[in-house]
Amino acid sequence: MKFPIKILFICLGNICRSPAAEGAFKKLITEKKLTDYFVVDSAGTSGYHDGELADPRTREVARKRGIKLDHISRKLRLADFQDFNYLIAMDQNNKVEIQKLAKTDDDRSKIYLFREFSDTSKGLSVPDPYYGDIAQFENVQDIVETSSKDLLEYLIAKHQI
Ligand code: 4NP
Repeated sequence: MKFPIKILFICLGNICRSPAAEGAFKKLITEKKLTDYFVVDSAGTSGYHDGELADPRTREVARKRGIKLDHISRKLRLADFQDFNYLIAMDQNNKVEIQKLAKTDDDRSKIYLFREFSDTSKGLSVPDPYYGDIAQFENVQDIVETSSKDLLEYLIAKHQI
């Protein structure tokens, strides 16, 4: 596969989990001086919050970890299957919604769960924090930081970066 590798993180609203994942992965590749190898974005399956910044709680938790989130929420679109190499769902519901939009086997082959890149978290989701308290947002942040490391390690090995 030619570089850059294009990664799209996907959740329901694109205001909590997937912008947090986008921010964590971008921070990691910046620290490792690998930004030239990647294009990173996020989207939501619903469109409920189109045009909005990430949830204030998501942004506050990220800010405390040194991450500024300026992503504007947008809905997943058919063209994303052409524009990205990895469509990475936060949970099984997101994955099913992405699969519904997929048209070809090539489209379907691009869909992953974010936590499947480590044997210790395979099969687990990034839990939806939207109706929860700040502790659940902190938990999401912890998970997306760990899963970003697992994903990057996988991609470095797979694409010989
Ligand atoms: P996200 O969280 O999918 O992680 O962005 C949610 C945001 C909004 C809603 C649900 C989940 N909502 O129902 O509006």
